[in-house]
Amino acid sequence: MTDDNLFLVTGATGGLGRRIVRILRDRDKPVRAFVRLTSRYSELEQRGAKIFIGDLLRDKDIRKACQGVRYIISAHGSTEASGGAQELDYRANVELIDSAIEMGVEHFVFISVLGADRGYEDSPVFKAKREVERYLKSSGLNYTILRPSGFASNLLPLAERFRDTGIYILIGDPKIRSSIVSTDDLARMAVDSVAIESAKNQTFAVGGPDVLKREEIPQIFSHIFNREPKLINPPLFLLDGVRRGVGFFSSNLQKSLGTLRVLLANEFFCTTDEIDRLQSVYEIKLESLEAFIRRYLVTGD
Ligand SMILES: NC(=O)c1ccc[n+]([C@@H]2O[C@H](COP(=O)([O-])OP(=O)(O)OC[C@H]3O[C@@H](n4cnc5c(N)ncnc54)[C@H](OP(=O)(O)O)[C@@H]3O)[C@@H](O)[C@H]2O)c1
Repeated sequence: MTDDNLFLVTGATGGLGRRIVRILRDRDKPVRAFVRLTSRYSELEQRGAKIFIGDLLRDKDIRKACQGVRYIISAHGSTEASGGAQELDYRANVELIDSAIEMGVEHFVFISVLGADRGYEDSPVFKAKREVERYLKSSGLNYTILRPSGFASNLLPLAERFRDTGIYILIGDPKIRSSIVSTDDLARMAVDSVAIESAKNQTFAVGGPDVLKREEIPQIFSHIFNREPKLINPPLFLLDGVRRGVGFFSSNLQKSLGTLRVLLANEFFCTTDEIDRLQSVYEIKLESLEAFIRRYLVTGD
């Protein structure tokens, strides 16, 4: 493995990041995986990624991690415990972009979020993504911005619970639509972005092939596991009550719940044109939610 084409992957232990590292190593590409000392990174090490221990809250770690790197894939995300949207989704990305310029990085792939451009005032994460997109576009770097909808891998624990109990909890309006994306497809697109000319300096909405109403998800599980769903459907205003209550003792947690509320109250799906564009630029046949769940929980590959 030579280092001429070194990739830096942030969020390398996350749901998306670990898949990005997997694909890169399967293709024998050199990878520097940015992880925290407390992260679970042994799988990345076994796959031959070079482990860089650091913290995205520290600028000097970011600058050091960018040395000698040709491509950067920013795939980290925030939780309140790990630093919050301002520090991780915004400031750490700005620092990564500045370091990338300084080090002459060839291409920067940024994982944003579907709807980043809608200006949701309640969500610090959406605001941070929008501002980083703007910063990256005006940075002069070659870039690709991927704006995914919800990840299929987030549904795996819910599918497992459904398999064992038949229970599915759906908060809010069951008719709200989304286009859940296979996390493996997204990882592939993130990796391919650095090499595909028509992905250079472009922003893509990224979703799966189907626009699904929320109530269709337990139906898909029911089909896969051959059991009747027991649907629990609390209304969204319960979350608003919790948010107000939480605000008395933690304004940060209240802000995080703001992002959750935005996600639960709005539709996040791709148009047919957006899906056609993705499939054509990346020469990919997008995987459905059902196929993803079957692959992980039924056929086991
Ligand atoms: N999940 C979704 O449905 C969804 C939808 C749209 C967009 N996105 C975006 O996609 C990206 C990946 O999401 P994901 O669900 O794969 O994320 P995730 O599973 O929550 O992983 C977050 C990653 O960030 C790392 N991280 C957090 N704080 C850090 C710090 N201070 N220093 C270094 N690393 C730190 C975590 O490391 P540890 O292992 O040490 O915690 C982990 O590797 C994020 O930018 C997210 O906003 C996600």
